[in-house]
Amino acid sequence: MPDDILLRGTNIVKTFVLRGGAMGSKRVVTAVNGVDLEVRRGETFGIVGESGCGKSTLARCLVQLQPVTSGSIEFDGVDITTLSRRAMRPIRRNLQLVFQDPYASLNPRRTVGDIVADPMRVNKVGTKDEIMDRVGELFVLVGLDKSYLNRYPHEFSGGQRQRIGIARSLSLNPSLVIADEPVSALDVSVQAQVLNLMADLQEELQLTYVFIAHDLGVVRHVSDRVGVMYLGQMVEVGDADDLYDLPHHPYTEALLSVVPELNDTDAPKRERILISGDVPDPSDRPSGCSFHPRCPVATEKCKVETPTLVTLTTGRQVACHYPRNLSN
Ligand SMILES: Nc1ncnc2c1ncn2[C@@H]1O[C@H](COP(=O)(O)OP(=O)(O)O)[C@@H](O)[C@H]1O
Ligand code: SF4
Ligand SMILES: [Mg+2]
Repeated sequence: MPDDILLRGTNIVKTFVLRGGAMGSKRVVTAVNGVDLEVRRGETFGIVGESGCGKSTLARCLVQLQPVTSGSIEFDGVDITTLSRRAMRPIRRNLQLVFQDPYASLNPRRTVGDIVADPMRVNKVGTKDEIMDRVGELFVLVGLDKSYLNRYPHEFSGGQRQRIGIARSLSLNPSLVIADEPVSALDVSVQAQVLNLMADLQEELQLTYVFIAHDLGVVRHVSDRVGVMYLGQMVEVGDADDLYDLPHHPYTEALLSVVPELNDTDAPKRERILISGDVPDPSDRPSGCSFHPRCPVATEKCKVETPTLVTLTTGRQVACHYPRNLSN
């Protein structure tokens, strides 16, 4: 594995079996359906897709909060899906998740100082005093006053809570941070502050990020490369700016056509592609290309043949029988 790849997922599948239907029937939900991905050291890899596409499930698998059903995840050259709990422990410190909801992810009965200190206590790094010194440092790092340490989460705004969540994620000096919609629950005015903080931290601490969002506008601004997910699969992967300028997959085009800034009067005119309906139920996947019921350019072939993710000469990867905006 070339050493510029920090995280590599190969054919990651995650299914949930739901029991308790009529006559004891069960339903199999394939939330992640064969994802390959490579995250390079030091980059921000964005993952975008509508709600229900499997982004959070993939994130939980990548940090091993959930076991994969099949496939492998290599972190720094080691397949972490087969490690024992004990062997995983030192590696887990390097892989941290920042959650979407800064309200739900912080224990309301613990002080924010304790919340940030907990991962260090659990991992027994340093003495009591060393841990509290480090918590103070982390508060400063994320732009919070140290005097707030003994307060409780409800005393903070959404943006401040997300700073606390970020401080907690950094407490064990990770090399990779997976941020699952870290600004989606925040007011628009606060989103940019948190994104700027994350960018500063990335530079200062040489972090690698996987940044998940449902809005391609946000993802493009923070990402070097982007993977577009639909119904548990990567349908397009490429350089963030290139993908934004020349989307090849109709789903990427559709996501772009709802990014507000592109519809400003100054922005280049884009054909608006409207897709109707919601992401289908992953336990009842459409035949052929799973996007076909919503795709504005689908043909009969799309209903029967499943496109695979192919790499074009430009390096772009796309899973579509009729890629759009090809230059030749
Ligand atoms: N623990 C679970 N049990 C059953 N189904 C689940 C579970 N977690 C997620 N799912 C299903 O998997 C699909 C993908 O969900 P999720 O990963 O949360 O998507 P996203 O983060 O893109 O919104 C959804 O259909 C969701 O209902
Ligand atoms: S394969 Fe067909 S249905 Fe799927 S995205 Fe391409 S054109 Fe649309
Ligand atoms: Mg999610």
